[in-house]
Amino acid sequence: MPGEALIHARGLRKTYPGGVEALRGVSLDARGGEVVALVGPNGAGKTTTLRIIVGLLRPDEGEVRVAGFDPFREPVEARRRLGYLPEDAGVYRRMTGWDFLLFTARLYAGSEAEALEMARRGAEISGLGDALRRPMGGYSKGMKRRILLARTLMTEPEAVVLDEPTSGLDVEHAVEVRRVVREYARSRGAAVLVSSHNMFEVEYVADRVYLISSGAVVEEGSPGELLERHGARNLEEVYMKVVGRRGEA
Ligand SMILES: Nc1ncnc2c1ncn2[C@@H]1O[C@H](COP(=O)(O)OP(=O)(O)OP(=O)(O)O)[C@@H](O)[C@H]1O
Ligand SMILES: [Mg+2]
Repeated sequence: MPGEALIHARGLRKTYPGGVEALRGVSLDARGGEVVALVGPNGAGKTTTLRIIVGLLRPDEGEVRVAGFDPFREPVEARRRLGYLPEDAGVYRRMTGWDFLLFTARLYAGSEAEALEMARRGAEISGLGDALRRPMGGYSKGMKRRILLARTLMTEPEAVVLDEPTSGLDVEHAVEVRRVVREYARSRGAAVLVSSHNMFEVEYVADRVYLISSGAVVEEGSPGELLERHGARNLEEVYMKVVGRRGEA
């Protein structure tokens, strides 16, 4: 439902074994139709936050809801509504792109017809065309990211969590991935939470931004609000003003 927070996190705290205090009370929301960016330097706690939201990691404290469901107490309900692209996702090198989409679709779909429709949707989102017939071992980094993004979106999740979807991509792939992400949120009324280091990208893709540093949200707002608040010409300036002087682990 547009306007409703489909991704909701409050007061997340996480200390890893060994004593690294990765999160010190992170709260964020993403509503339907909205692309929200979680931005911060290496080690700020982005991946930790996203892994908690999708239910892969348990917070020490705090609350998460995905489309109203608790990913730990109601994992089946939450996961059915979630799409997650991990930071370090790999591909099956010997499988073709198309076989991968169809194989994954069959895990989700109730019938073969539905699986085919889902895989076709994935094929279109991937933009890979004839390359879908080739084994994924021969894909470039950009092509791998595109097929994994397609796999994440083809099941039409209401809540999408993308950990650095454009990391390592050339301009053309990155532009296309941003376009796909925006279009997906708009057309499906889905909430998309995306992590990034790239402020230029964020300015383009995000309706709202959370800046995270050393495990805490240090700034939040629409790109326009952040520019105005800090008298900055672009978000990179805002980032340097807010995060740059803090010094990161
Ligand atoms: N499994 C783990 N065990 C111990 N410490 C961890 C673990 N995973 C992450 N950390 C630490 O927690 C902090 C936050 O890490 P996290 O991966 O969430 O940051 P990030 O913002 O995603 O960084 P990057 O931009 O490099 O991906 C870092 O100090 C990191 O070293
Ligand atoms: Mg990370």
